[in-house]
Amino acid sequence: MPTIKIEGTGEQFEQTESQDCILRAGLTAGYGLAYECNSGGCGTCKFQLIEGEIEEPWPTAPALSARDIKKGRKLACQCKAKTDLVIKMRTDPEYAPINLPARFEATLSSRRDVTSDIVEFCFQAPDSADAKFLPGQYAMLTFPDGRGPRAYSMSNLPNGDGVWEFWIRRKPGGEVSGALFDELRVGGRIVVDGPYGHAYLRAESERDILCIAGGSGISPMLSIARGVLMDPDMEGRQVHFYFGGRTPDDLCGLDELKVLPGFQERVHYHPAISMPEESPEWTGDTGFIHEIVENQLGNELSRFECYLAGPPPMVQATTKMLQLQGNVPTGQIHYDPFY
Ligand code: FES
Repeated sequence: MPTIKIEGTGEQFEQTESQDCILRAGLTAGYGLAYECNSGGCGTCKFQLIEGEIEEPWPTAPALSARDIKKGRKLACQCKAKTDLVIKMRTDPEYAPINLPARFEATLSSRRDVTSDIVEFCFQAPDSADAKFLPGQYAMLTFPDGRGPRAYSMSNLPNGDGVWEFWIRRKPGGEVSGALFDELRVGGRIVVDGPYGHAYLRAESERDILCIAGGSGISPMLSIARGVLMDPDMEGRQVHFYFGGRTPDDLCGLDELKVLPGFQERVHYHPAISMPEESPEWTGDTGFIHEIVENQLGNELSRFECYLAGPPPMVQATTKMLQLQGNVPTGQIHYDPFY
């Protein structure tokens, strides 16, 4: 069982499970190793190997530039320790997990078409073990035969019934989403590893909530909105929910929001489409969702706690708009970057 020491911090932990990467080993030990995507895309988990040997199955992960590779930088979410290690890596208590990630095999208890390319998958944990996560977080899903992992955000709330619900969009050519859509039937198994992520609901904030979702980003935004309305400590907080799709057929989530207590008084649902030429009957908002948010909330933006999820270009454009046009402080903008 290799021990991993983080140089200059006095922190050390063991890689107790053979399939664990360095990042997971540190997080499950409760340490705040810096990370965001857990998928080799963002580069937040870069480290320098000082001593020891590692296994690096994906040495050309997108987050590593030619300069990183030349300098010997590695990704903690992609590397495993083969021997005891000394590494240099950023840690911060803000990255320390509130709920430690757990790995377990879950059973698909139901699936339901939400739109033509989004399906709701509900998984049941063994022995109905508590589903411990925060609204807005994600889990890594892997097929028992090894296909995956892929990161997907939960759409439900933490619960004592062991239910992990995901709204997943079929990704063209995506191995895991393709297998979920085409192969996985009720009773089938998947390995869930989670929770992860920092774009979770800040229940302690007194600000109103702004949720901005594009495409499959609806899943964590639904969880955030559900979290606000179901938390008695957040009573009175308003939720402005913007959801952008290509055509009206992509729009969803309203039926699930409508049944929440306080929906009428507290939720403001703003759907919009980006391809109006395909849907002449549409009379609602059209355009990119970040432009619609800017036009409608303009100078008010800095009074919100902002949560975003969706395709990377949408998240990048929205973050830029919130910071530059909306003057929203970085600490009030929450998203997990996936590439
Ligand atoms: Fe490792 Fe994003 S590349 S957390």
